[in-house]
Amino acid sequence: MSTLAITTAREIFDLLRDDLAAIELELGKDACSGVSTITEIAEYLREGGGKRIRPSLLLLAAHLLGYSGSGAIRLGAVVEMVHTATLVHDDIIDGADMRRGRPSANTTWGNEKCVLAGDWLYMQAFKVALEEKNLRVLDLLIGLTQQMVEGELLQIQKLGKAVSEAEYYDLIFRKTACLFAVSMRLGAVLAGAGEAEEASLAAYGRAVGLAFQIVDDVLDLTATEEVLGKPVASDLREGKATLSVIHSADHGTAADRQAIQRILDDRSFEHVTREQLQDILVRNGSVEYAMAIADRYAKQALQALAPLPDSDYKRALLWLPEFVVAREK
Ligand code: IPE
Ligand code: IPE
Ligand code: MG
Ligand code: MG
Repeated sequence: MSTLAITTAREIFDLLRDDLAAIELELGKDACSGVSTITEIAEYLREGGGKRIRPSLLLLAAHLLGYSGSGAIRLGAVVEMVHTATLVHDDIIDGADMRRGRPSANTTWGNEKCVLAGDWLYMQAFKVALEEKNLRVLDLLIGLTQQMVEGELLQIQKLGKAVSEAEYYDLIFRKTACLFAVSMRLGAVLAGAGEAEEASLAAYGRAVGLAFQIVDDVLDLTATEEVLGKPVASDLREGKATLSVIHSADHGTAADRQAIQRILDDRSFEHVTREQLQDILVRNGSVEYAMAIADRYAKQALQALAPLPDSDYKRALLWLPEFVVAREK
């Protein structure tokens, strides 16, 4: 066992290189349907790449607990397919025209075909998961999919409202952190982990997932479309109040609150400009606030790993939360 600390994404990639390559092959195999439009859309989505962070989590969890079978390849592909299915549906719901630096699938094929391709992908993921012949695996994936769909639906119900921080955390757990937690759990289940180990890994996944979505929401306010590969300043235009904005609405002046509500009502920066919003966020230290919370979740993730045995895999997991918080896309 190496005593070197893992410090770069490249080292994690090296550690997981063969497995991630095998997952790409599995994803290629799984993107095939008898109906050509579905294959085209599934292939387009697969080719678009992405960070593959959820399969990486699953692999690290499984290996950390000593598992090295092919189940981790299949389930790694499964969590990536579930993720991809939610992205296809999310881009339709959000009316997003760009994803992973390319036109989103809905722009090319239209909403109707993409809804169906998303449904097909969910079921393809379940079909591959079935190969494990493990009801626990299916139970986790069913609960997860329901949470994610509920999250997106609750989000629609809250559009245009300056939600509370508590509502925000509930939403981002469902739509994002739950999949991170389940990816970790699935790795643990494959390794035949005990309840306590599985709970520690799930707590890690939840905390990293919450940090991940908080940062995604900050990047929507601070990044550029070129770097991010998807539209920016889109959350407010979609009527979504995210953590920084909630902070300014809760702690700013009455005028700040009104300005934010105006953007949420207009779903545009027509009456209150992006510059005015930036000024409100800066004056209230709201982006720093959101990043500090993301940082707190990243630290919480590290603590969750304390009971687990030391290894290169654990060191990779210890490095990841920092990457999630510091990332630019
Ligand atoms: C995007 O997830 C959706 C969110 C949960 C914010 P990622 O940022 O992991 O997307 P890809 O897979 O790398 O494109
Ligand atoms: C994450 O929310 C959505 C999913 C979990 C599918 P966002 O709407 O913020 O995701 P992006 O920014 O479009 O990737
Ligand atoms: Mg979206
Ligand atoms: Mg986003």
